Amino acid sequence: MEFPFDINQIFTERVSFLDQNLAADRWTARRPDLQANLATVIDELGRASAKAQQLTAAVTSASKLQSQRHQLYLLKDGESSGGRGAVVGFLKVGHKKLFLLVSLLFLLTPPPVPGPAVTLIAVQDRHGVHVEAEPLCVLDFYIAENLQRHGYGLELFDFMLQHKNVEPGRMAYDRPSPKLLSFLEKHYSLTQNVPQVNNFVVFEDFFFNRAAAV
Ligand code: ACO
Repeated sequence: MEFPFDINQIFTERVSFLDQNLAADRWTARRPDLQANLATVIDELGRASAKAQQLTAAVTSASKLQSQRHQLYLLKDGESSGGRGAVVGFLKVGHKKLFLLVSLLFLLTPPPVPGPAVTLIAVQDRHGVHVEAEPLCVLDFYIAENLQRHGYGLELFDFMLQHKNVEPGRMAYDRPSPKLLSFLEKHYSLTQNVPQVNNFVVFEDFFFNRAAAV
């Protein structure tokens, strides 16, 4: 995605990390003109992602990023647009408190030896057995249309996994599109999703290798 301003001036790294402060670095934070351009980029990306997913409203915008405690990774191509750079895509993550129905496999598997892992307390109610957890969630993910299926999504996702030190199977996915489900299967062999009553998808891996109390 190209913009009528210098992308390399706003985003100095190939992958930039943005949070509530909405500044790629201290330099951007002190320049209102760069901040305004940065907000334009985020808004444009949010709209493009919503369009690609056929959503009626954007899940991501500069103002939402400022008001919610979510975090955004932005991938640029610094060489294109005559050296001004172009935006390749973004990935937004954040923690959400979720009630997740537990997989049958998990219930039938003996609890592992308790260790330093997160303890999941399972509770039975009329929907089945669920746990309350606050996992890191993928909330929005978009690679520019003409750049999809070139490995950029993987580059961005892997960057986030390393930065957060998290396994993809330990994350939850908010209303994943068929393309994202295919992406997760191809790159991380995540196939067995556990049916939920909310819009989130988690995989079998989510429930395993933790200390459990049912
Ligand atoms: N159709 C089906 N699968 C696709 C497609 C597509 N058009 N595009 C990517 N994929 C999946 C496939 O598994 C593909 O492997 P394949 O080409 O061998 O079939 C794999 O992703 C390719 O991996 P990358 O090149 O690393 O992924 P990409 O750079 O395309 O990024 C992404 C993946 C972000 C899902 C991208 O395709 C995209 O922006 N799609 C449109 C928006 C979208 O659906 N975002 C997810 C929203 S849901 C959420 O964020 C919780």
